[in-house]
Amino acid sequence: MVRQLIPTPPEATGTALTDGQLLELYRPEPGRLPFVRFNFVSSADGAATWDGKSGSLGNDADRRIFALLRRHADVILIGAGTIRAEGYAGELLDAPAQAWRRERGLPAHPGIAVVSGSLDLDPGSPFFTEAPTPIVVLTAGSADPSRRAALGRVAEVVTAGADGVEPGRAVQALTGRGHRIVHSEGGPSLFASFQHADAVDSLCLTTSPVLAGGGQRRISTGSAAELRRLELAVLLEEDGALFAEYRRSGTGPTPASG
Ligand SMILES: NC(=O)c1ccc[n+]([C@@H]2O[C@H](COP(=O)([O-])OP(=O)(O)OC[C@H]3O[C@@H](n4cnc5c(N)ncnc54)[C@H](OP(=O)(O)O)[C@@H]3O)[C@@H](O)[C@H]2O)c1
Repeated sequence: MVRQLIPTPPEATGTALTDGQLLELYRPEPGRLPFVRFNFVSSADGAATWDGKSGSLGNDADRRIFALLRRHADVILIGAGTIRAEGYAGELLDAPAQAWRRERGLPAHPGIAVVSGSLDLDPGSPFFTEAPTPIVVLTAGSADPSRRAALGRVAEVVTAGADGVEPGRAVQALTGRGHRIVHSEGGPSLFASFQHADAVDSLCLTTSPVLAGGGQRRISTGSAAELRRLELAVLLEEDGALFAEYRRSGTGPTPASG
């Protein structure tokens, strides 16, 4: 059955969703832990970057959902390439988000974990020095010992694979630290390696109504993976941008609890 979503069918209410309703829609399935979610924005023609970053691909609603999704996270997982390109630093949640988490018995800040095989990360960068919570660096046994020692002074460096980080071991290491809802903000190489290991439970994808042309990377690059079917759990729209969540079969959201 092909269903009409846009233009909004006359029988649909079409009212604006509140933050609370959005959070409920994107709530991870409580019975399915660990739960690994990736969040990406793409142009309509499949680009994950513009001018080396992702920010200009999204609109205000994308930024709103991007921020709300962080509230559900036990840990925010990021690939080293995204750290280097996007310049993550400081608090990742604003004051209302921190209050929302505290009200639910969660720490104000989710954990932060970065995946890097080379450990080519600057221990003196604001990402480490201004982090609101201790950072976990997931790396491989083959990583350079002197870089490991340097990063070990500002973060917990954890080996989760021999020549590269194995997603299953990475998730195990995070779960062992109490981080069972893993929220990844990419990037494309990390996503591909998690797909290859069949370690993705959810993909939140914004498709923006822009064309970026050839030469841009897509949201998954690198390791090949099996063709895996997902369920469409959420589909929203604002200003022509589509906000979808695809979940591994059987992990769709449960009805709102009020
Ligand atoms: N459209 C979006 O929503 C979105 C989201 C995020 C990022 N991006 C964009 O994506 C670009 C960066 O792409 P990227 O592919 O370099 O990002 P990435 O996946 O964040 O980083 C790749 C790096 O992460 C490490 N890594 C990932 N998987 C690994 C594994 N299994 N084992 C060991 N190390 C692993 C490696 O770090 P080392 O090199 O340190 O070994 C690798 O070079 C940026 O332009 C960024 O703006 C777009």
